[in-house]
Amino acid sequence: MEHSIENYIKNLVRDTIGQALGGLQLQKDRQTYVVGNWKMNNNFSGTAEFFQEINSSNNVSVVVCPPTHLLYPAQLLIKQQKKSIALGGQNVHWADRGAYTGETSTSMLQEMGCEYVIIGHSERRQYAGENDEMINMKVKQAIKSGLTPIVCIGETLEEKNLLQTEQVLKTQLFGALKEIDSSQFIIAYEPVWAIGTGQSASPELAQQSHAYIRSVITQIMGQDADTISILYGGSVNEKNAADFYAMEDIDGVLVGGASLKAKPFDEIIAAFAKGEQNL
Ligand code: 13P
Repeated sequence: MEHSIENYIKNLVRDTIGQALGGLQLQKDRQTYVVGNWKMNNNFSGTAEFFQEINSSNNVSVVVCPPTHLLYPAQLLIKQQKKSIALGGQNVHWADRGAYTGETSTSMLQEMGCEYVIIGHSERRQYAGENDEMINMKVKQAIKSGLTPIVCIGETLEEKNLLQTEQVLKTQLFGALKEIDSSQFIIAYEPVWAIGTGQSASPELAQQSHAYIRSVITQIMGQDADTISILYGGSVNEKNAADFYAMEDIDGVLVGGASLKAKPFDEIIAAFAKGEQNL
């Protein structure tokens, strides 16, 4: 909350000048991210190849989220190659430690070099039974430990067809962010129907949802909502990434399939880095 007056003034100045110049968007004030979620894919040699080939960018925060057993080798590779790429976990438990077979704690992720963690991915909501209460506990634990949670929300195709998108997003946001007194988090809007289908949301539709998401975060935490980066995820690739970048409330992308190989992921990073330079 400490930056709210400063951000308010900054945004006011930007909007006023932007309006005076005919509605031109002058600057993306928020941190821009390109995040790769490898899900349950890749191995040691593929990881070594990836980090050898990938280029980092000074303009964009690049985060890679490999499966747990590849985090430590990834950390070593990043150090060895001197690349400015951060690591994230794909899930975390809400407890510090204890009898939780098969789980990973925040300190374990941090020991393997993570600064970020994906929480509440729709795949985990679907097959691992994660609900808003569990997601909220994980978000609190991540923030308490100094990890930045990337909180995933999004509607299913059925919910979209029933025109329930906004209601779903609102419920998921109020659930995940309950009693959170910090702006140290990222939101990823991933419509479930767009994940792994090759059918991304149109940039315009995604922008509409992102603007709505920001309005809900404003209800929850006030003006600080302007500082929260909101990423789009769902069939993002090297061809459509720049179109998402062009949207006012889209501050980055969460990429699945196209993050597995260095080349397409690199092109996505380049599209965002170029966008930042052009502003
Ligand atoms: P795809 O990019 O493969 O559609 O996956 C998106 C996703 O689920 C990232 O978390």
